[in-house]
Amino acid sequence: MGEQSVTRSVSIRRGEALRGAFTPPGDKSITHRAVLFGALAEGETRIVHPNPGEDCEASCAAAAALGARVDRQADSVRVTGTGGALSTAREPIDCGNSGTTMRLLAGIAARIAGPTHLVGDASLSRRPMRRIAEPLEQMGARVRGSGEAVCAPLTVEGGSLAAISHTPRVASAQVATCLLLAGLAARGTTEVVLHGPARDHTERMLPAFGGVLEVRALASGGRRVRVAGGQRLTACALEVAGDASAAAFLLAAAAAVPGAEVTARRVSLNPTRAGLLRVLEAMGAEVAIGSRSEQAGEPVGDVTVRGPRRLHAFDVPAEWAPTLIDEVPAWTVAASAADGVSRVRGAEDLRVKESDRIGALVDGLSACGLEAHAHADGLSVRGGVPSGGDVSTRLDHRIAMAFAALGARSEAAIRLDDVACVRTSFPDFFTVLRGLGAQVDGVAA
Ligand code: S3P
Repeated sequence: MGEQSVTRSVSIRRGEALRGAFTPPGDKSITHRAVLFGALAEGETRIVHPNPGEDCEASCAAAAALGARVDRQADSVRVTGTGGALSTAREPIDCGNSGTTMRLLAGIAARIAGPTHLVGDASLSRRPMRRIAEPLEQMGARVRGSGEAVCAPLTVEGGSLAAISHTPRVASAQVATCLLLAGLAARGTTEVVLHGPARDHTERMLPAFGGVLEVRALASGGRRVRVAGGQRLTACALEVAGDASAAAFLLAAAAAVPGAEVTARRVSLNPTRAGLLRVLEAMGAEVAIGSRSEQAGEPVGDVTVRGPRRLHAFDVPAEWAPTLIDEVPAWTVAASAADGVSRVRGAEDLRVKESDRIGALVDGLSACGLEAHAHADGLSVRGGVPSGGDVSTRLDHRIAMAFAALGARSEAAIRLDDVACVRTSFPDFFTVLRGLGAQVDGVAA
């Protein structure tokens, strides 16, 4: 998959304009699932426009470690699946920075009788795995990690699983997918109840692999998903929609710059991922959608955002939080340009993402002369003029891209200490940002 040469520190400021169109990388969540479901399936799965970042590379390597064959081409991947006959990995599987790889893989490892060791980088090794360890143990697997939060390195030993009904404390698609993957091989029918609109890519994609699920909408805005054990998956071909979370930084920057106009082509419009577009519209930005179609069960379209003369502050209700959880860093760029104080609620899980994103955003915005406050369940930002400043990315790709996007609306340069982390999800990010007209110094094109 793609790679770009990047120096580590970079400085960004506003250029002539912020105008143009770009094609975002393939969606990261969809790519992880396609690769891992393909590894379980019988036959050859062909994935077109996969996400080219390091997180999905980790899922490809994990699939290979469990016995699948993975061949990468320019803008596609072929996965020759195991038909469910998974090998025991001889070495620890390195999930890198990717929480999705580790949590989904744990559900697959729970199907294997021998031990599977899962390791990650320093950030991933701090993230809580208890949310998957506890229900997997209830199903009959043994999951060992360190400390109260059950952090990686993890050892998962499974084999003989029994179905459970589980309601995760956080409406998490990673937890749901982990349990559904284990449930496909368990005795009985596994049920996951999500009390919120967590992303539903698993439910949309499994039928393409021949998986049978029962999904029922709940009054809470969430859903109940059931999967019967003993199912075998079969390979399929699919094209991955553009990543809405990657596009978000550039669309939020467009909303924040009066007169800007940016189009993201063939981007996912999945309602469980479209919260940011809804918020930008509520703030007064013009959001237009063209060329609607469907790719692999996911709605896609070309999204154009135009920056209005004034953006209005908006209080994002807690019920919307799951639909923009990865876009909160991008949201701060629009909030920083609005009249008044904007706030996001129901987003406490941001504390345990690739970094403590609430802390990283508040510190970074303050370093740029803006007023921001941390709250127990999110943060608030007062609109203003960024002074420029030095921001630590904390090696978190979404923090790096958010402050680069803030730079695109700032007359004074914003300097980022280490942006190599954008390779996690959007290796070409700085090339695209520069192409839209921002001044980017320090990154090789
Ligand atoms: C993801 C689900 C979300 C999201 C993450 C990817 C997925 O996490 O933040 O980046 O692909 O299922 P949670 O499941 O922890 O909410």
